[in-house]
Amino acid sequence: MVSLKRPLPGAAPAAAPEGCAQPPALRDAAVGGLAIDGPRRDGRYVDCTFGRGGHSGLILRHLSADGRLLAFDRDPDAVASAAGIDDPRFAIVHERFTGLREHARRIGWERVDGILFDLGISSPQIDDAARGFSFRHDGPLDMRMDPSRGVSAADWLNSAPAEEIERVVRDHGEERFAFQIAQAVVSRRAERPLSRTRELADLVAAAIPGHGRKGSRKDAAQDPATRTFQAVRIHVNQELEELEEGLSQAMDLLAPDGRLAVIAFHSLEDRIVKRFIAGQARPEAALGPAARRLPLRASELPLPALESIARIKPGPDEMTGNTRSRSAVLRIARRTTAPRLAPGGGGRR
Ligand SMILES: C[S@@+](CC[C@H](N)C(=O)[O-])C[C@H]1O[C@@H](n2cnc3c(N)ncnc32)[C@H](O)[C@@H]1O
Repeated sequence: MVSLKRPLPGAAPAAAPEGCAQPPALRDAAVGGLAIDGPRRDGRYVDCTFGRGGHSGLILRHLSADGRLLAFDRDPDAVASAAGIDDPRFAIVHERFTGLREHARRIGWERVDGILFDLGISSPQIDDAARGFSFRHDGPLDMRMDPSRGVSAADWLNSAPAEEIERVVRDHGEERFAFQIAQAVVSRRAERPLSRTRELADLVAAAIPGHGRKGSRKDAAQDPATRTFQAVRIHVNQELEELEEGLSQAMDLLAPDGRLAVIAFHSLEDRIVKRFIAGQARPEAALGPAARRLPLRASELPLPALESIARIKPGPDEMTGNTRSRSAVLRIARRTTAPRLAPGGGGRR
């Protein structure tokens, strides 16, 4: 693996895009990972998570007049924020990035040269209390990245079985007290439906045994609602399912030598990205457990479909200037000429 610490030539210092207090995490390294240089400047690129366009803006700066950038975002506010980009090389669609393959086909893109995912929610989404992502500011308990579709956090919490709430809070929030939190939700909603973010945050804090007592939790510095809010948000937006399918579609679309750059913000996301890349980069990992026990020669193994290039964490300067970037992990991979590997073995180790 090589480290991509240097920004691309000509890259401006990371600046906050409009509407964001902080520049997007790992912007230069992620765009650097797409290797938009030489003839690749004429290529086709996809920003699957436009947000406020920090990454897209830098990609456009590196493209030639013939290069093209297609962006996706499921948030109507993010798409509206792109209205000011008057650039014939750029287009944005209000869709989930799992619409990638279909949309690319519709516009006649058989292959693309680079695909970027900057996962999770954006600062404007967290900072706007009306979106319901924040336990710090009171707002309607919504948490949908696309408020025009799907089920809000309040509707789900007010109707899901206790066992489902417990499973989501435990699995997506890695929360030890998922059982207590699910029970508290169910008894509260029997009195009146949950509707506000502050209400959920207070209820979670009260449900955690010994909360408020010194040394009651290893992560006592963290707000007690952090894990539950993360879990509910991931569930409401089906983020992990979106990621698995988005990566799979990206794989089908990348041209030989095409680059995949993915920034994850928590271990659940990063694990999916890591396993996906390993499953395509290590042919032995793509074999099922039975086939792995067969005495196969290297020449009998399928060829790697991806080459893992780099895993990058923000440096100390970026972590200081951008608190959200502390948990970010960027992974970069290069598509080879080999056919993609069947997901069977999945590299799950
Ligand atoms: C971390 S922000 C991206 C920030 C962006 N790179 C920038 O420079 O401003 C993630 C964005 O991806 C969008 N998003 C998350 N999951 C998505 C999905 N499955 N499909 C489309 N957009 C998604 C969110 O609405 C949010 O705007």
